Amino acid sequence: MEIVVSGIRPTGNLHLGNYFGAVKNFVKMQESHQCYFFIADYHSLTTHPTPENLHGNVRDVLVEYLATGLDPEKSTLYIQSDVPEITELYLLLNMNAYVGELQRVTSFKDKVRKQPDNVNAGLLTYPTLMAADVIIHKATKVPVGKDQEQNLEMMRTFARRFNNMYKTEFFPIPSAFNFGEKLIKVPGLDGSGKMGKSEGAANAIYLREDPKSIRKKVMRAVTDSGPTQMNQKKPEPIQNLFDLMTIVSAEDTVEHFDELYNNCQIRYGDFKKQLAEDIIHFTTPIRERIEDINANEDYLRKVVTMGSEKARESAIKTMKEIREIIGFRKF
Ligand code: TRP
Repeated sequence: MEIVVSGIRPTGNLHLGNYFGAVKNFVKMQESHQCYFFIADYHSLTTHPTPENLHGNVRDVLVEYLATGLDPEKSTLYIQSDVPEITELYLLLNMNAYVGELQRVTSFKDKVRKQPDNVNAGLLTYPTLMAADVIIHKATKVPVGKDQEQNLEMMRTFARRFNNMYKTEFFPIPSAFNFGEKLIKVPGLDGSGKMGKSEGAANAIYLREDPKSIRKKVMRAVTDSGPTQMNQKKPEPIQNLFDLMTIVSAEDTVEHFDELYNNCQIRYGDFKKQLAEDIIHFTTPIRERIEDINANEDYLRKVVTMGSEKARESAIKTMKEIREIIGFRKF
């Protein structure tokens, strides 16, 4: 079975866009791959060195992924900082990572622009830590979005370089896990682009959001003054809301409003009310699971303990072999 690793940064709650993006595919992947999913709390320190509530952020993400269907029996779910072997490999990979190549990584250059007062070495070596995350389990597949492609390329470079330098075939060279056509794009509520793309919280519907707040956000979603011609093409904000409806509502509901739009009889108020109720219908069971799991400290402790044990078993084995390959010997 192919080994998959993916890291999740503990910044922000899951919204519908995340759900239909990565999360749904993670859940499916568990059936056919040996998956390691972890919360990248070390990585989060590169941009948030003094988080107000690091543990709370990690906990939130963990709860939400469990509630959406990541299964600790099928996958290995763990917290990055619970597996110290990752940092050991990170250190060793840094010995063969060149400052020049790290400085050329686009996301590093972006960060330099974004946080000029905190261009820390962790930011520079973000790709080596990420490589360590993956190759510590000798993974072959990494499910990442477009924004992570260069990091993946670096991972491949570091794995290949290790193999070349120590004349071994030790690390498999990981490649992208392609979701292909299966990625559903969820639009945001602010009239343009994907959900979560813009920073404003009004643009996204979160999985833990209560019905009242969902109603409010949907009712405030950007629209226009309405269609003026029969069967006219929908402008982006309207098309976005229809796309959202296609994701959460029954087919005949979408058809109903589509017809009204095409006849210039649509009332956006009614349309949005229906959309809000269907979103709520969709998110309610997830929200309830989030609440249940959130209240179950024992369960969370069990999940994390089991996860770190499984992850360390694999990591310790790899590290032991790496030490041997490089030449560290016991006295
Ligand atoms: N950098 C990834 C992100 O920002 C998170 C991440 C950390 C990751 N380590 C990883 C993803 C290893 C895949 C594999 O989303």
